Amino acid sequence: MKYDDIFALSIKDPTTFWSEAGRGIDWYKEPDVILDDSKPPFYRWFQGGTLNTCYNAVDRHVENGRADQVAIIFDSPVTDTIRKITYGQLQDQVSRFAGVLQDKGVGKGDTVIIYMPMIPEAAFAMLACARLGAIHSVVFGGFAPSELALRIDHAQPKLLITASGAIEGKKTLAYKPLVDKALDIASHGVDSVIVLKRDFVDAQLTTGRDYFWQDLMESAQAVDCVPVEATDPLYILYTSGTTGMPKGVMRDNGGHAVALHWSMKSIYNVEAGEVFWSASDVGWVVGHSYIVYGPLLAGCTTVFYEGKPIGTPDAGAVWRVIAEHGVKTLFTAPTAFRAIKKEDPDGKLCQSFDLSCFEALYLAGERLDSDTYHWASDLLKVPVIDHWWQTETGWAIVANCRGIEELPVKPGSPTKPVVGYDVRIVDDEGKVLGANEEGNVVIKLPLPPGTLASLWRDEEKFEKSYMTTFPGYYETSDGGFIDEDGYVYIMGRMDDVINIAGHRLSTGAMEEVVATHPDVAECAVFGAADQLKGQMPVGLVVLKAGRQRDAAELGGELAQMVRDKIGPIACYRTTAVVNRLPKTRSGKILRGTMRAIANGKEYRMPSTIDDPTTLDEISDALKGLGFAG
Ligand code: COA
Ligand code: AMP
Repeated sequence: MKYDDIFALSIKDPTTFWSEAGRGIDWYKEPDVILDDSKPPFYRWFQGGTLNTCYNAVDRHVENGRADQVAIIFDSPVTDTIRKITYGQLQDQVSRFAGVLQDKGVGKGDTVIIYMPMIPEAAFAMLACARLGAIHSVVFGGFAPSELALRIDHAQPKLLITASGAIEGKKTLAYKPLVDKALDIASHGVDSVIVLKRDFVDAQLTTGRDYFWQDLMESAQAVDCVPVEATDPLYILYTSGTTGMPKGVMRDNGGHAVALHWSMKSIYNVEAGEVFWSASDVGWVVGHSYIVYGPLLAGCTTVFYEGKPIGTPDAGAVWRVIAEHGVKTLFTAPTAFRAIKKEDPDGKLCQSFDLSCFEALYLAGERLDSDTYHWASDLLKVPVIDHWWQTETGWAIVANCRGIEELPVKPGSPTKPVVGYDVRIVDDEGKVLGANEEGNVVIKLPLPPGTLASLWRDEEKFEKSYMTTFPGYYETSDGGFIDEDGYVYIMGRMDDVINIAGHRLSTGAMEEVVATHPDVAECAVFGAADQLKGQMPVGLVVLKAGRQRDAAELGGELAQMVRDKIGPIACYRTTAVVNRLPKTRSGKILRGTMRAIANGKEYRMPSTIDDPTTLDEISDALKGLGFAG
């Protein structure tokens, strides 16, 4: 069957379609009901089935003759290390680390926070939780202690797993002091902290609470996989929303395993035994789905890369990894390619590597600009596949499903809806729009398996955030259109979420920090286009009456505050001081209009604006900062 037929079947008869896909997974007990749609918008997949995700990602491959196949290649130019871990070794490490966790009191349904760099032990920790039926929540290392503390308080973990540190580009970072600070800030306490000691940075342990991973593993006993319900949670992943409080996206076990396993062949055209590299970080959804779970569920070899696309040591790093490890498919963010293109515009460093193993490049996380698309296509001469998805969905919503049928690429579009996703465009009143009409991108319910089951401990917020604006649809918060051939175009977020180098951050959260500065009366933070990182945050602040501040000095203080409170990954560096912010007559700040001015886009003067002259000042201030104005 071709794409059109499979897609039609998945929408018309999702039960039959996903029941078939479910055969890719080993169940202890087959599901009774494939889709329980009795309580919309809460849909449950594979109800009554029991399985273990770790068993499916590790043990079954060992039992099926893959014990000696490499499961994980750890390639760390920053520590000059290459380490290969077979499925047999992975089973040994994961089952014994699960024993360590069990010894420390972790069991089915408990939560565990993982705050680790890009090392294989991060995957061991995630899989060990899955093995026990515990729920992990991985926090990206670029978040500051207070962000980690927010997640500790919300997830209420029994235990926290970290490493003594990481090398980020050329900087050595100590993680343990950040963890200690987060635990000081958090009101929830953890029973234990397990620290993977790395030889280039030490960690101070608190007696009775903290342990070194290596010490505990010396006497660890392997434990077996615990069967869990398909609908039991596998993990929580916090993602930025429009406020300072992130959303705890909750993923189940059954739907997740089925969807990711299915996606490896159908979307990425990768099969067991082949090498798949997702150059992201375990702290993001791409890392969860396509560094750890997807490739391992499918019996592939996955690459853990602790480095950057440039500077570790140069812009040839990506080509080196592909050639050295026989990578068939690479998945990364367009930013990585923009960074390489900037350093090596003619792609000279690529020429010295044999890339004959390389079949396709997949890009996601932010809009793929046409320069980057053409540069990568011309240089690599392989399909360059843009695909669109979100932390919430956990896997692609729109993509070229090359494993089913490779469709012609239209640059600027991630191609067509992935099997299982009924994507529509609606206006603000929820009316479905026609071809080429731009509006809100929504997905008709039910969402396919593997997408968010709910928000952790907050069903009300789940309904309010995604399901209420357009009843019967999931609201993606992205704007876009579908053309006459059914190709989807994603134009960007309609809310206060921005994408900096493919990393999702909330300008609302940054505003909350900037607003606490003693000299700031009010402020607006929004995303402005950036040639390398796609978007960068820009802050406009109004000072309290009578305060006089040097703008550069104040900007430096605000940058430091955002760095301390949210983390370096927020990349907040640019501030202008203005006399007033443009507002509606009811006092709502016109962020959308400022965003349009900063990005040099056409905008209509809002009819509700209280004082149109404020826009002139904003325009001048943004020009002063080097934006289109
Ligand atoms: N732990 C701690 N700090 C981190 C971190 C981590 N895991 N990851 C990033 N940071 C810090 C960086 O050191 C930097 O700090 P600085 O301001 O002190 O220099 C800051 O956060 C911003 O990092 P980054 O956006 O990575 O910028 P960069 O200038 O170091 O690198 C690129 C630029 C383009 C090379 C880099 O963003 C990149 O490789 N992007 C690929 C995108 C990607 O993988 N996205 C994943 C989603 S698919
Ligand atoms: P995240 O949850 O971090 O994956 O970020 C999701 C958001 O990133 C989406 O809502 C989009 O705004 C943006 N995004 C991801 N992939 C793409 C893409 N291929 N094209 C355009 N935007 C994208």
